[in-house]
Amino acid sequence: MATFPVIDYGKLNGEERAVIMDQIKDACENWGFFELLNHGIPHEFLDTVERLTKEHYKKCMEQRFKELVASKALEGLEAEVTDMDWESTFYLRHLPQSNMAEIPDLTDEYRKVMKEFALKLEKLAEELLDLLCENLGLEKGYLKKAFYGPKGSPTFGTKVSNYPPCPKPDKIKGLRAHTDAGGIILLFQDAKVSGLQLLKDGEWIDVPPMRHSIVINLGDQLEVITNGKYKSVEHRVIAQTDGARMSIASFYNPGSEAVIYPAPSLIEKEAEEKKQIYPRFVFEDYMKLYAALKFQAKEPRFEAMKAVETTVPVATV
Ligand SMILES: [Fe+2]
Repeated sequence: MATFPVIDYGKLNGEERAVIMDQIKDACENWGFFELLNHGIPHEFLDTVERLTKEHYKKCMEQRFKELVASKALEGLEAEVTDMDWESTFYLRHLPQSNMAEIPDLTDEYRKVMKEFALKLEKLAEELLDLLCENLGLEKGYLKKAFYGPKGSPTFGTKVSNYPPCPKPDKIKGLRAHTDAGGIILLFQDAKVSGLQLLKDGEWIDVPPMRHSIVINLGDQLEVITNGKYKSVEHRVIAQTDGARMSIASFYNPGSEAVIYPAPSLIEKEAEEKKQIYPRFVFEDYMKLYAALKFQAKEPRFEAMKAVETTVPVATV
């Protein structure tokens, strides 16, 4: 079995650039996931993000999790729980407008560090989008422009999650299987406690925890824009009996008014039967549908968007 792609991003600007670009291409085409080492975000900075996130969980989230999730989930647990997840989360929005000032319970230090973290990841996301363009034969900046939409900003946010130890991991998932709706996702995950798995060729494969790495995965929008050349891949989190898992996922998504559709230059190269697989839609409309259907297969979402396609204005990016 092929091993999960771990890529030394530090070599991108050296003599092995072609090899690294090929590894990224292969990962995008065959995995929808890869893990970056030496991505340029200082390790001490990531250690600070981790420390503050864990402190915040202990101080502000743990009790709430016990009262609202754990007690409910474990109540007379006989069959598998299918309507909730064993996770504690909060969401920070960075773009188009930050919501950081409205989130209660964050210390000034944590707020400042998460703001800086978001800026670093935004830069990495945009760099990666250009590498994808290069591998796809799209002009530089194409994907970024597609995501910016008419209002000139992507939607960018961070979901901070903790998965506490779970006494019955066979009865409840940390996070049920789904594909991500958006564009490109950058995950800073726990260095020790595993749990994230992706579905490949019908088998669940662990995304290995590696200290200071950033895991990248592709969302439904990149599948649409690439006309299926790259696919968003199903993933889930298995709750663990030992150890709490930290997971900080940042979602670099299209702006809500961006019109998403397969890149015309990619369609041109396709065989006749592959020319019209994916719909054209306004990203916000896709998200409304996704909110209700997150834990279902993505194909019916694409079909539903095709049904409303005629109402979407033809936009150029
Ligand atoms: Fe996800």
